[in-house]
Amino acid sequence: MLLKASIVGLVSIPAFLLVTAAAPAQRYHHKKWNTLDGKPSLIFGHRGDKAIMPEHTLGSYHLAAIEGADYVEPDLAITKDGHLICNHDLHLSATTDVAERPEFANRQRNLTDILDDVLVTIPNNWFIEDFTLAELKTLRVKQAKVGVRPLYFDQTFEMPTFEEYLTLVQDLSVRLNRPIGIVPELKHAAHSNKLHSDKPHYFENLVLDTLERFGYPRHSSQIKNATHITINGKPPIPRGNVMLQNFEVESARYLGKNSDHDVLMLVLANAWALTPKGLDDIATFATHVGPWKEFFISDAESAYKFKNIKLDSKQIRKLGGFIPPHRLVKEIHKRKLRAIGFTFYDKHEPSQLGCAKKCIVGTRTEELGYFFKQGIDGLFVEGVSNAIQIRNQFFNIKV
Ligand SMILES: *[C@@H]1O[C@H](CO)[C@@H](O)[C@H](O)[C@H]1NC(C)=O
Ligand SMILES: *[C@@H]1O[C@H](CO)[C@@H](O)[C@H](O)[C@H]1NC(C)=O
Repeated sequence: MLLKASIVGLVSIPAFLLVTAAAPAQRYHHKKWNTLDGKPSLIFGHRGDKAIMPEHTLGSYHLAAIEGADYVEPDLAITKDGHLICNHDLHLSATTDVAERPEFANRQRNLTDILDDVLVTIPNNWFIEDFTLAELKTLRVKQAKVGVRPLYFDQTFEMPTFEEYLTLVQDLSVRLNRPIGIVPELKHAAHSNKLHSDKPHYFENLVLDTLERFGYPRHSSQIKNATHITINGKPPIPRGNVMLQNFEVESARYLGKNSDHDVLMLVLANAWALTPKGLDDIATFATHVGPWKEFFISDAESAYKFKNIKLDSKQIRKLGGFIPPHRLVKEIHKRKLRAIGFTFYDKHEPSQLGCAKKCIVGTRTEELGYFFKQGIDGLFVEGVSNAIQIRNQFFNIKV
């Protein structure tokens, strides 16, 4: 009933009112939290809060922060003229109006490369690396999942730069009176670095340099007394934490070895990461591991079959075999790493657990509860305030 009312409401109720609409009925009474530090799991706003705003816009970042996200996620790519810009894809058709721009018709092409360990062809599209920042700024962002999500804010926003994201997050930290975590994902670093092969680790250094300019130096010893942000004479607020994330191990390793920032090793096609020796290696350069959520539910073989990803079984055996799904959080914690899961969709996309074997369509409270019980340290969610409500009830947090 609630679900139906909210979907109907999409056409008339202002978006900001929707996010508090659904309250979970169930209450948990857990005595002990199973996260690594015994604290409640952290909530990461996936691409901002794309349940309502077009993803990767100042609007979606702003909304996630207002809703209370512990971290707000930008994905990063590099423009033709070397600026960091926020977008999930290397291509532009899904989230911008580029296809309707006759001036860019001749930029359409195919792109083939290994992206996050998988050989991929993206046919007939427009790519960020072919556009200058000034050209990208003429585009307008639109909602990626038409039919599921509200479209009020289509054509409202430009693609934000990483610098605009950092400025916004710092400003909101002061105005909302709490530190907000910064969790940029370097998308397809090996591909982007190939385009700048004269400067080794161009992408990683561009990100680390930009962070440094905004007061997040590579090494914590350099922070000295500048641990707080002050804007317009308002009381100083501690800077949010920085966590750099990547699916590509060489990029994650470089970030971990060349900075004191937290590093989140994401896991999807990089199956070696789900083995004991794989986790041992990750613990040498990262602080967090983020396996696709299915790996905490189904055995890895079934999950990879479901995803149509081929496995190197010999390599997996050599590394100690796959860790069973119910042991995954424990094995991650054993190495003093924290476990992060992705992606937990909001109520407009039904929750599907265990689809590698047999989908269990459960409620959002059941899905999140499964991960909280295991001791997941953080989750990338959509519908941030609703997820926080469920989290707070699970952990008996009084607000
Ligand atoms: C992309 O590749 C396909 C063949 O796979 C070809 O038909 C098409 O013309 C190519 N597109 C462009 C813009 O080159
Ligand atoms: C840091 O300390 C120095 C010297 O004590 C002072 O001049 C400077 O204003 C301080 N910076 C901040 C951001 O507080």
